[in-house]
Amino acid sequence: MKTDKKFKRYTVTSALPYANGPVHIGHLAGVYIPADIYSRYLRSKGEDVLFVGGSDEHGVPITIKAKQEGVTPQQIVDKYHNIIKKSFTDFGISFDIYSRTSNKIHHETAAEFFKTLYDKGEFIVKTCEQLYDEENNQFLADRYVVGTCPHCNNEKAYGDQCEKCGTSLNATDLINPKSVLSGKIPVMKETKHWYLPLDKYEPWLKKWILEDHKEWKPNVYGQCKSWLDQGLHPRAVTRDLDWGVKVPLEEAKGKVLYVWFDAPIGYISATKEWAEEKNRQSAVGNSQLSTPNSQLPTTNSELQTPNFSWELYWKDEDTKLVHFIGKDNIVFHCIVFPAMLHAEGSYILPDNVPANEFLNLEGDKISTSRNWAVWLHEYLQEFPNKQDVLRYTLCASAPETKDNDFTWKDFQLKNNSELVAILGNFVNRTMVLTHKYYQGKVPALSILTELDNEVLKKIKAFPNRIAENLENYKFREALSEVMNLARLGNKYLADCEPWKIFDSDPEKVKTILNISLQICANLTIVMEPFLPFSAEKLLQILSINKLNWENAGKTDILKANHQLGKTVLLFDKIEDEAIQLQLKKLSDTKIINEENNKQFVSAKADISYEDFAKLDIRTGIIITAEKVAKTQKLLKLTIDTGLDKRTVVSGIAEYYEPENIIGQKVTILINLQPKTIKGIPSQGMILMAENAKGELCFVQQEKNFESGSLVK
Ligand code: MF3
Ligand code: ZN
Repeated sequence: MKTDKKFKRYTVTSALPYANGPVHIGHLAGVYIPADIYSRYLRSKGEDVLFVGGSDEHGVPITIKAKQEGVTPQQIVDKYHNIIKKSFTDFGISFDIYSRTSNKIHHETAAEFFKTLYDKGEFIVKTCEQLYDEENNQFLADRYVVGTCPHCNNEKAYGDQCEKCGTSLNATDLINPKSVLSGKIPVMKETKHWYLPLDKYEPWLKKWILEDHKEWKPNVYGQCKSWLDQGLHPRAVTRDLDWGVKVPLEEAKGKVLYVWFDAPIGYISATKEWAEEKNRQSAVGNSQLSTPNSQLPTTNSELQTPNFSWELYWKDEDTKLVHFIGKDNIVFHCIVFPAMLHAEGSYILPDNVPANEFLNLEGDKISTSRNWAVWLHEYLQEFPNKQDVLRYTLCASAPETKDNDFTWKDFQLKNNSELVAILGNFVNRTMVLTHKYYQGKVPALSILTELDNEVLKKIKAFPNRIAENLENYKFREALSEVMNLARLGNKYLADCEPWKIFDSDPEKVKTILNISLQICANLTIVMEPFLPFSAEKLLQILSINKLNWENAGKTDILKANHQLGKTVLLFDKIEDEAIQLQLKKLSDTKIINEENNKQFVSAKADISYEDFAKLDIRTGIIITAEKVAKTQKLLKLTIDTGLDKRTVVSGIAEYYEPENIIGQKVTILINLQPKTIKGIPSQGMILMAENAKGELCFVQQEKNFESGSLVK
């Protein structure tokens, strides 16, 4: 039920991204920007907020990626955890803690949570037959199996879900299952697992969501209702895997917790880590982690060591818990995790789960495997210091109620005709005029006209409208109100034309600029949650300290005679060339993807045997290899072809280090017309196999024949 209950503190969580790839604009728009705006706003209001994030480091896809790359899962998650964490820092996502689920404290917390439910007798244990790969001696959990979806016939459905029709599956539902590890058909083998009896909690969930949380967003409420209407079933929370949190039971050797069981507990472990770190720091009197307002230690004296408690953020009824997530996470955050918390018994439940829909890119679904994405780390290389432009665009077109599309044209338009032309322009005009007429000193307010009074009244009304939208998770609307404040300023200047009346009516100009400057000061407050970097810049321009939300709406923030700082532009125009470059990058990606697809769906046209017999293909061996200077892809190889030793330039440098391929057996086309590549005469071509991702590997003989053997 939506109450106007006043909470004492807030726990704000944002979905833990899987640490098997970098983060892209879809992540930012769907989860981290709204969560950050909400947290910054609450902090500005002086609320006690803990904003929690971290990397989700378990699950099958991470282990598969590790196998493919020949490294350990820990190496994979170490790499991406750092990349992801840096992207968030770079974009000003103001986590109080950004943790990770491979931490010890998380393993302990998750195992203990499981144990509590186990001791309470909440789980059901079932022994059943599951798919098993005999070659690798391993049960095939979730994504270790692919096969045909029984609902839509998609041949590439995974053991946990069909990505085409969205149905969640059990591995044993798949038709023609195949092991991802060996490609072989798995056998059935008996195993034992622990299940969370969601059916048992169903009546409770129905009341809690469908009756008591009618205020949740329609997309969230609707998805929950559809799950609940279909009826819930017990869900296995353990897996036969060796990567994850070990199941803390003697009889469960070799089993780990299902990633979706341990990951949301990650929010709790991260909070524990935060509290421990804070307590440790305040014991030594140095504080690096941020401190929520009301938990500021009251004294530094050793007699009274402040005690930061994680439990206040998870177990106190006066704490408001809000989960920011994308729509694919709804069932886990609205049904499964609350059921776990409810079953455990000592935790609070989420007050709201403002999930967003998906962001598409130029009309297509964002996809990591097809490289159809704008990666945050790449964006910052290409648009340095333009974090706020992306934050603005992504918030202004956030997929709040339905899927939405990011286009580079729209990005440019929003920058040039909103950030530059409205917000930046208003601040700049006000500053330039004040510097010109009053040497940058705030002029005093003088006689007020009716128009001035009207504008002052409007300024006072803004903060509440923005706040109300923010508190209802309407971030787009809130942001458009921020822009409306700048619009109001622009219109006021245009209506008054102070530059025309300075000589005839200097008193009036003082008033106009005073009011305009008060709008600028208000902007620093209301834009900060959305555009923190620019808000900081504006504070410097105005030469004032950061102000909290309480001051928003005031029209005497800047006192007469206050000396303003130097004026710089808040935003610059983005030219067509920069946008063309991004579009080119995407169209290249499309071409590569199409090539790859073609190769896999259709064969080339038939040729005659005579055509084939013209090719002189031999077995050979690499005897020297070195990088070709100033290129990314090329290696210069010497090949012993059995007939001669010759130089071949080959585009394989992205896949092989020169020192690792000396002695490599190859297959070589020797009668290809010689060609000079980067000044090196190349005689022949090494045959390579290319997979759907465009990765290359050598085509190699299966027996050890001497070099020069004919391939036919
Ligand atoms: N890693 C999941 C995803 O990217 C989200 C996990 S959210 C958590 O879809 F709550 F489980 F942590
Ligand atoms: Zn399907």
